[in-house]
Amino acid sequence: MSVHVQNSRMTTAKLRQMKLNGEKIAMLTSYDFTLASLVDEAGIDMLLVGDSASNVVCGNQYTLPITVDEMIFLTKGVVHAAQHALVVCDMPFGSYQVSEEEAVRNAIRILKESGCDAVKLEGGEEILPAIRHMIQAGVPVMGHLGLTPQSVNQFGGYGLRAKEETEAEKLVHDAQLLDEAGCFSIVLEKIPAALAARVTAAVSCPVIGIGAGNACDGQVLVLHDMLGLNQGFKPKFLRHFARLADEVKGAASDYITAVKDSSFPSAEESY
Ligand code: KIV
Repeated sequence: MSVHVQNSRMTTAKLRQMKLNGEKIAMLTSYDFTLASLVDEAGIDMLLVGDSASNVVCGNQYTLPITVDEMIFLTKGVVHAAQHALVVCDMPFGSYQVSEEEAVRNAIRILKESGCDAVKLEGGEEILPAIRHMIQAGVPVMGHLGLTPQSVNQFGGYGLRAKEETEAEKLVHDAQLLDEAGCFSIVLEKIPAALAARVTAAVSCPVIGIGAGNACDGQVLVLHDMLGLNQGFKPKFLRHFARLADEVKGAASDYITAVKDSSFPSAEESY
């Protein structure tokens, strides 16, 4: 029996070719079937089920509390939606730091149970053994350097990273190690644009930036932020491509009025 693989699906090999061709890569986060379907139909290259779900979906202050089970639950919906995009699931805090064995077991579990294409994890040299084991086991891995929100308690906030020479040099070195280990892509978050340009030129895998300037091979944003749903959050790097908070509140307010004044449902809307 032969299984049909749709050739319109994005793959890690196609992403690498896009970097070689100088074709920019567009990535957005997604946490549910409905919105992921719309973004996939629009032609996004990669969908990231980010652990930012901890903030956006669950209302936590940090990304740290979200669990592997919760990430798998959310990722399943996004995988069902994705006809074209490559789906990446964030490995949550605590799921890859304890031991290489546990890291590989969790990565395999995420791939098997959610159906996603790849996992993403935060960090450089410190987590290299875990990354190597995952790649050897056949798990495609995306790296994440610069501002790594799972380490917020170590950094003491969400400020710009790698401003100083020592941290910048370590970041370039880490990116090269991740690239050599076989990561199919690396996210760079909130670092100076010139440093991101240097990293992008120094590695063979596609580099995806968020708050890392325009020289990266692609960009990623949190969907709810770029849609203008998250009202309290407007860092310098964020562009609002829509203002849906006003739309949602307006629609909810119209609905409430229609219920209260008994104009909804009308005779046409009744059986
Ligand atoms: O969790 C997330 O949404 C992310 C992106 C900000 C890259 O890691």
